[in-house]
Amino acid sequence: MGTDKDTRTNFYHLFEKNDPITIRRCILEDLEGVIRVNEKELPEDYPYFFYKSILDNYPESFLVACNNKGKVIGYIMWRVEKIPSLDNLKLENKGHLVSIAVSKKYRKRGIASSLLKKSMEKIKKNSIDEYVLEVRVSNYTAIGLYKKFKFNTQIIKSKYYRDGENAYYMTLKVKKS
Ligand SMILES: CC(C)(COP(=O)(O)OP(=O)(O)OC[C@H]1O[C@@H](n2cnc3c(N)ncnc32)[C@H](O)[C@@H]1OP(=O)(O)O)[C@@H](O)C(=O)NCCC(=O)NCCS
Repeated sequence: MGTDKDTRTNFYHLFEKNDPITIRRCILEDLEGVIRVNEKELPEDYPYFFYKSILDNYPESFLVACNNKGKVIGYIMWRVEKIPSLDNLKLENKGHLVSIAVSKKYRKRGIASSLLKKSMEKIKKNSIDEYVLEVRVSNYTAIGLYKKFKFNTQIIKSKYYRDGENAYYMTLKVKKS
């Protein structure tokens, strides 16, 4: 991994000299590319207005990864939700990972890890207590990624997905600095 330059709106991450990948904030013009990656890589599709509302409300943690031609090859998006804590049912602000995907050709190069790390720093600014996500119980790759970031499985959400598959509900407490 190479340099990591932070600016007000963008940051860049150079993975390999000959095939640099840029990670930066998503802009409106990227949404078509984000939707293309989502539709190719995940069974869960969302309408355009859903992406747009996430971009409008949580722009700092909506990131895209682009190849050297500027094509979107990965993305991550989060939102903040008030959800009862599993411990005491008290309402808490949670950073909910809505979706992450990387195009097949670009996988296993640390792109998802980088998207996750950078976006978690950003969504944390919304006074959240915890990061939360759902993942298909069969999605070993994604589960491996989340475990690497120290997410723990709390419960299984039965038939969470439209096709009837169960989800692991995974969480990670935010470290207060
Ligand atoms: C899950 C996904 C985003 C990972 O993207 P990626 O850029 O390849 O991930 P990284 O290269 O950053 O790898 C991160 C970690 O994921 C895990 N991982 C990645 N590929 C894996 C594989 N084939 N098998 C098992 N674990 C794997 C490993 O823990 C890896 O860490 P390591 O390289 O230090 O061992 C990608 O596979 C994807 O887009 N899948 C389809 C969409 C999806 O399932 N999204 C998640 C929905 S909840």
